[in-house]
Amino acid sequence: MILTADDSAIAQAAQALRDGHVVGLPTETVYGLAANATDDAAVAQIFVAKGRPADHPLIVHVASAAQVPVFAAQVPDFAQALINAFWPGPLTLILPRQSGVATASAGGQDSIGLRCPSHPVAQQLLRACAALGVQGVSAPSANRFGRVSPTTAAHVQSELGQDLLILDGGECAVGIESTIIDCTRGAPVLLRPGHITRVQIEAACGRPVLDKEAVAQAAPRASGTLESHYAPRAKVRLMAAQDIEAKLQALGPHANNLGVWSAVRPDAGAGVLWRAQPSSAEQAAHNLFSVLRELDARGVSQIWVQLPPDTPEWEGVRDRLQRAAA
Ligand code: TXA
Ligand code: MG
Repeated sequence: MILTADDSAIAQAAQALRDGHVVGLPTETVYGLAANATDDAAVAQIFVAKGRPADHPLIVHVASAAQVPVFAAQVPDFAQALINAFWPGPLTLILPRQSGVATASAGGQDSIGLRCPSHPVAQQLLRACAALGVQGVSAPSANRFGRVSPTTAAHVQSELGQDLLILDGGECAVGIESTIIDCTRGAPVLLRPGHITRVQIEAACGRPVLDKEAVAQAAPRASGTLESHYAPRAKVRLMAAQDIEAKLQALGPHANNLGVWSAVRPDAGAGVLWRAQPSSAEQAAHNLFSVLRELDARGVSQIWVQLPPDTPEWEGVRDRLQRAAA
């Protein structure tokens, strides 16, 4: 059930969360599937609904930095600088976890992912939850495990069904998931690129950002970091613009059931569905998941995507595309 996120719908959702139910929630990045972070039984429902392995930890969303000590045992100086610079906003910090808190959400880690979203509906819901004693809300992206993240309430409903209460807060402005920085290793480590770039992170905390490959890891701790993720049904292929054009020329009238997301409209027939790839990384991020979903829904067998430039502002989009294509 999709509800326009007015005051009464937000109050209803807060009560549902307090009572141990799950709720679909808009954020500025993507929609989340939310449950009370400290209610292990409620959190377990998220894993079931998504089909997500229980050892993949969830991000806890808080109304403000004041709730950080509820979940985190310690905040290094560089992490505090990032909180000051970017919260509320699309940045998740992995911090040492308070022992015994949000155990199911942490998926077996002794750390916890914390994020303070800026979307006004998420903010209002988290404050309403706090007033009911719910100090944080665990919310992974509201898609089935491994699939494309949802950026509208309708996407959430098509992923998770009619029965779920979903707050409709419109289209997500950012369109790709938050940047994740691991702050448990003595230096900032980039686990997942996003709208907030590594350049901005380095400027805000005055420290070089390390790559996760440079840090020894026992197990994959972020599903957003699995090689194959964000996958539509259609096969995604990343290609240079001139290769798209050349292959379409070679196929001629045999190019069918094909989606193309590229900057310049290719010269092709009706069997090729072209969607314009924006020239700004921000706009491309905003469109990315809905374009993949829309082409998928039209039944194309392949989606050819022009590989964006290898520059810092495109890192988040490139990352999602590379894993959609894996
Ligand atoms: O933008 C976002 O972050 C969205 C919205 C809903 O807030 N949420 C989101 O959640 O993308 P999810 O579960 O799809 O991705 C969270 C990522 C996962 O890859 C998870 O493994 C990682 O964060 N993560 C969470 N807690 C962690 C921890 N303690 N250590 C390492 N990675 C963690
Ligand atoms: Mg996800």
